[in-house]
Amino acid sequence: MASSVFINIKLLVNVREQTQVLRGKELAILPVIEDAYLVIEDGIIAGYGQMKSIAIADHKFDQAINLDGQIVLPAWCDSHTHLVFAGSRENEFVDRIKGLTYQQIAAKGGGILNSASKLNATSEDELFNQAWKRLGEVSRMGTGSIEIKSGYGLSVDGELKMLRVIKKLKERSNLSIKSTFLGAHTYPLEYKDDHNGYIDIVINEMLPVIAKEKLADYIDVFCEKGFFSPGEMETICRAGAQYGLKPKLHVNQMNSIGGIETGIKLNAVSLDHLETLNNTEISLLSGTQSGLPICSLLPTAPFFLHVPLQPARQLIDAGAAVALASDYNPGSSPSGNMNFVVALSCIQMKMLPEEAINAATLNGAYAMELHEEVGSITNGKKANLIFTKPIPSLDYLPYSFGNNLIDKVMIHGQFI
Ligand code: NIG
Ligand code: FE
Repeated sequence: MASSVFINIKLLVNVREQTQVLRGKELAILPVIEDAYLVIEDGIIAGYGQMKSIAIADHKFDQAINLDGQIVLPAWCDSHTHLVFAGSRENEFVDRIKGLTYQQIAAKGGGILNSASKLNATSEDELFNQAWKRLGEVSRMGTGSIEIKSGYGLSVDGELKMLRVIKKLKERSNLSIKSTFLGAHTYPLEYKDDHNGYIDIVINEMLPVIAKEKLADYIDVFCEKGFFSPGEMETICRAGAQYGLKPKLHVNQMNSIGGIETGIKLNAVSLDHLETLNNTEISLLSGTQSGLPICSLLPTAPFFLHVPLQPARQLIDAGAAVALASDYNPGSSPSGNMNFVVALSCIQMKMLPEEAINAATLNGAYAMELHEEVGSITNGKKANLIFTKPIPSLDYLPYSFGNNLIDKVMIHGQFI
């Protein structure tokens, strides 16, 4: 058994003997050990405590590493991304600078449809190579577990190609990865006036193959004006449930059209985006009942689209379970940098650093149902860790936004 001990850790962050999803006020409690040690055996966290209580000479560690003032925290758990995509869309970015809106660009065949035509013209190998490079980049920025969606195929072949790429990423990467089927991301042009025709393909042609080849862990629908209605979302999710796929859903990104009520009824694991929320919806999402979906906020999307960010403060104050994710995608968040997501949440959504770090680690793990293996410093969990450069305090992380404060990242016990 390979064992190592890290000693003289200035601050060991998010240390928990047991975990539960964090709701409301619980998000502000971030347990830490000052002047700590951490033991890792075969890639798994196997012990921790205060330096004064460790007697290194009594133990036989293969390696003792002196961290001398560094802070160690769980690697980011990014619970909502579209990391598999072909090419980029900076032309639309410039169109928006010139005055067009995201919705106007989508209506003229840009947006998701633009990415879909690029993706359908790209081979599976090339798509894998692009995604592999992005996965490497986000892991170097501290992401240790990640959810990745399909949704830029919008054809049987295209959706299966994306999901097979995600499957290959799972096989080749040591990050923990969850896969989500988002065939209902938008309507292909030829089905613009035949919603049922496309939904029929999603349900009867895509889902059976996905289930047979075990290509997805979850199902997602973009519930939005001009995209899928709550009723259409319900039909698709009920079909997914027949194959054991639980919903993680795009709702209330631009408009409030009933996606929250439907998502709760469908027992969604998470409801994601939530830029536009009324008070009734905030109270539906809040409270202590178990079974309420996690609210996955993706603040870089409204930041990039220059619209108001999610009402994180109101959600947390009302008692909701908030997670933070990057939404990494070519249209609304062409960055998977969770350090910036955390900083932006503190700077613009008034989340406390403790709340943001909990939301981007433990609650993110719950939003992917990976909480037994990642998201906190807990014995038995994977050693997915961020080692910071020497910094004065934990608050310095979001404060010193945009600067690279990560010294090293460890995934499942291996430095990358
Ligand atoms: O999460 N809102 C839907 N999907 C993506 C954006 C898709 C795109 O523009 O490519 C999102 O923001
Ligand atoms: Fe998204």
